[in-house]
Amino acid sequence: MCGIVAALAASDVTPFLIDGLRRLEYRGYDSAGLAVLEEGSAHIRRHRAVGRVAELAKQVGQGEAGLGIAHTRWATHGAVTEDNAHPHLSVGQGLEICLVHNGIIENHASLRHELKQAGYVFASQTDTEVVAHLLHQTRLKTTDLLQALMMVQRQLQGAYAIAAISSKDPGTLVATRLGAPLILGLGHQTTDVFLASDASALVSQTQDLVYLEDGDLVALSREASGGVVQRRLLDRSGQTVERPIQQTSLSADDVALGPYGHYMQKEMFEQPGALANTLEMVVGANSLSASLFGQSAASVFAQTEHVLILACGTSFHAGLVARYWLESLAHLPCTVEIASEYRYRQSVPLPKTLVITISQSGETADTLAALEHAKSQGLSQTLAICNVPESSLIRASSLRFLTRAGPEIGVASTKAFTTQLAALFLLSLTLAKGRQRLSAAEEQSHLTALRHLPAALKTVLAAESAFAGWAGRFVQKSHALFLGRGIHYPIALEGALKLKEISYIHAEAYAAGELKHGPLALVDAEMPVVAVAPNDQLLEKLRSNLEEVRARGGELYVIADQGTRFEPAEGLHVIELGDHAGLLSPILHVVPLQLLAYHVALARNHDVDKPRNLAKSVTVE
Ligand code: G6P
Repeated sequence: MCGIVAALAASDVTPFLIDGLRRLEYRGYDSAGLAVLEEGSAHIRRHRAVGRVAELAKQVGQGEAGLGIAHTRWATHGAVTEDNAHPHLSVGQGLEICLVHNGIIENHASLRHELKQAGYVFASQTDTEVVAHLLHQTRLKTTDLLQALMMVQRQLQGAYAIAAISSKDPGTLVATRLGAPLILGLGHQTTDVFLASDASALVSQTQDLVYLEDGDLVALSREASGGVVQRRLLDRSGQTVERPIQQTSLSADDVALGPYGHYMQKEMFEQPGALANTLEMVVGANSLSASLFGQSAASVFAQTEHVLILACGTSFHAGLVARYWLESLAHLPCTVEIASEYRYRQSVPLPKTLVITISQSGETADTLAALEHAKSQGLSQTLAICNVPESSLIRASSLRFLTRAGPEIGVASTKAFTTQLAALFLLSLTLAKGRQRLSAAEEQSHLTALRHLPAALKTVLAAESAFAGWAGRFVQKSHALFLGRGIHYPIALEGALKLKEISYIHAEAYAAGELKHGPLALVDAEMPVVAVAPNDQLLEKLRSNLEEVRARGGELYVIADQGTRFEPAEGLHVIELGDHAGLLSPILHVVPLQLLAYHVALARNHDVDKPRNLAKSVTVE
């Protein structure tokens, strides 16, 4: 989704702005732009380009600009055009205002109407340009850019992160946020301060970060060129506040590609390490404790009688898997719901519900809104399972578990998913233990299985070439069907999602028992059917379903466990993983589906890490 980078520094900020935009490319975007104010100039210099940051970089020369803002846009209001790209400019009466914006201004239509009546002419279809003109109009009536931004903020409805500069305020950068992240990076020199919507754009410069809170406004300013930057921070009521400086553990190396072809490939192969990191505290301690999820978790868990899971995309699929564990291990009834549906549904809140949100980024707008909706329904016990410690979701939840997958850059989520599953399995075991449904021997046997999980996953990854071998047979196909049963049905859903996201092949997943209730009509030689076939109690049921496919001439690709006795034959391709991994089997069986999607997308020459139309972190509704 959209990204913001900005800086006020003693030297030319252009190289940092371009580098920052490159580091945000992974979030998904369709155009980019930057604006700088050169020393001694009364005019803002702006460059914009449709397409990649590399296109923008070609236009932008080096200069003497100590102040600048930059943006990657993911179109919401208005098509992908240069006119709609940020920064947006408002010029008149000797004043130039330029700003970048993430999020959505919900009341943009009424504001646009008022501004047009006041004589402002619009050059784009964006909601952002409204804010630029409003800030221009307000700054003309005030003497202070921060004051003007505060007055504008009070008129805005929606979610936003905004950074702005003005030709009348040559040493000043102002910014505000509400419902969309914005982070200050304090340079090693007191003369340099940076700003970005994502820490990964800042870590090349500094590890000292200040996370702005909802409603905060900040002015960074200096008296003279190259002088010390002063920081003025106000909360939403206009009171001066301090926000803590936090040291991020994220380094520039964490977000480097290294020897891999794509971030998705890197992240698939990081899964054994990511799982080991996520499980470290538990398997090391050799026992499960509710305190893993927060100080008050033991008392919250003791009262829990129902679980409600809210999430989007891949994280939603993790929730669907978790339902099987929570119900079978902890005997807790569990509902899993797509966050964007839940937030607008008139549901009946059950008492003693634990609300679990799952999110890689912790910034997904629908998940955050669903959590707020749950709270407004009186559901106050909330647990976030999330990969980003400083995220909005973590801050909005009373209990938390951090997956320790490290930064995930590829749009198609891989290591975030498997670490979410590990976290949810730990949670299910912990709840089961608290409810006296887990004997000491069972606890130890599950912990042993978890200890072996990273190695088992390495073995699956080692079979990459076998799955890559299947990819060639999918390249020319337009559709694919994924089948699974029981706890592997959500894994089939995730496999279909992976294929859709990066190969653009239409893929659907079905619980295999549903085949004859509709999708069987689609099966012919042109429809590859991928089956997730662990050696579990549903194997024989699944085998019968697969026979139905073969009888209709369908081409089957079976991902089996050892001992499942699928014999490869004409139209029947089989790859066996290791022995059946019991309850942990979904964590292993999803990996071949990730590898398959990756290799099909490669074979179709797609930009694997930046699939068309998609964004990594969906911070708008
Ligand atoms: C986007 C991403 C998906 C992700 C989903 C939820 O659609 O492309 O990969 O699963 O958002 O994101 P979250 O950060 O909340 O897990």
